[in-house]
Amino acid sequence: MHGKTVLLIIGGGIAAYKSLDLIRRLGEQGVKSRAILTAAGGAFVTPLSVAALTGETVHSELFSLTDEAQMGHIALSRSADLVVVAPATADLMGKLAAGLANDLASTALLATDKQVLMAPAMNVRMWQSPGVQRSFETLRRDGVLFVGPNDGDMACGELGPGRMAEPMEIVAAIENAFGKKGPLSGLKALVTAGPTQEPMDPVRYIANRSSGKQGYAIAQALAQAGAETVLVSGPVELAPPAGVKLWKVTTAREMLAACESVLPADIAVMTAAVADWRPDIAANSKLKKSTAHSSESKNVVPLLKLVENPDILATLAQHRQRPRLLIGFAAETDNVVENALAKRARKGADWIIANDVSGAVMGGERNQVHLITQNATESWPEMSKSEVGTKLAARIAQAIGGQAA
Ligand code: C5P
Repeated sequence: MHGKTVLLIIGGGIAAYKSLDLIRRLGEQGVKSRAILTAAGGAFVTPLSVAALTGETVHSELFSLTDEAQMGHIALSRSADLVVVAPATADLMGKLAAGLANDLASTALLATDKQVLMAPAMNVRMWQSPGVQRSFETLRRDGVLFVGPNDGDMACGELGPGRMAEPMEIVAAIENAFGKKGPLSGLKALVTAGPTQEPMDPVRYIANRSSGKQGYAIAQALAQAGAETVLVSGPVELAPPAGVKLWKVTTAREMLAACESVLPADIAVMTAAVADWRPDIAANSKLKKSTAHSSESKNVVPLLKLVENPDILATLAQHRQRPRLLIGFAAETDNVVENALAKRARKGADWIIANDVSGAVMGGERNQVHLITQNATESWPEMSKSEVGTKLAARIAQAIGGQAA
């Protein structure tokens, strides 16, 4: 961590006093802190204490002329290697989850291009309220990292989850966020996600209902476990996962070309729902609904001729730079495990993750999968797609762990 800089956003909570100690602890590890103090944060610790400990001006105002002259608020949001919010209040979490910005801290959180780590601190009831839990889930899905809150006595006299993590725990989480200790450190991962779109003409295409959520969650989990992760994604409406290099493509052939140029990779997880076929020709101009001049005046329906797309998973399995661990997905509606076993052999994958997509899996938040490896089939209970990602990253680490494993 030596030589890194952290942008520390201090929100309004009694735990703000621990953030002063956090600045000291980070300094001991050679990490420099630059601070934003919210208006509420300033009610708990003074700008003077924060400035004395960071050795820098403390930033508080969104439209401060003197600050803007030295460093604009956008530049400030990107000036560090990591953004840490401690204490992260219900207000800061809610604003970031909702995309709101009405002060310097919330603006910096939206404008930053760096990973964000939050250490929540609030009353137990507040933490457990549906609104805060919704923010927490959304932020986690968006790739925000969390440390705590811990269980225990609270300043307000209640007991339960809500205490901010201790400064040394936050330091450890920061160290993790810098990717030093992930079990997949030193390994490169390729993930495909989403559907592909196969054009008929400039306005029409063939596609499928894949939302990309499972693939994005896997890419995020691999990156969090320390792998250098490239996500090759078809057209989806998801935010890029933090710490992942995102490569957007449209067609199956573009997806294959992107994957091949990412190689060599140690791990490849092919989550994309690649279109099996594409129209044999994509017309350069919009196909017209033309009317035949027969006596019945019927519309002429163009016949769509389909040709097969390349199978990306099977191509990588035969590739001279074949990834060490090649994982395919099998979305099935019946005989899920049997079909997946056959698919594993047919495509030359090492593992297959089989899921039953007859229910609300596509586009939904949850998934129930079976992991089929060389010598076993594990059926995992239903869990969120992000939990599937985390569990899969852990299994991958067990199988081929990186430098730190
Ligand atoms: O044959 P099927 O589409 O069911 O196989 C699913 C697995 O193969 C997934 O991992 C998917 O990403 C991959 N696949 C691919 N290229 C294709 C078709 C499927 O990589 N053209």
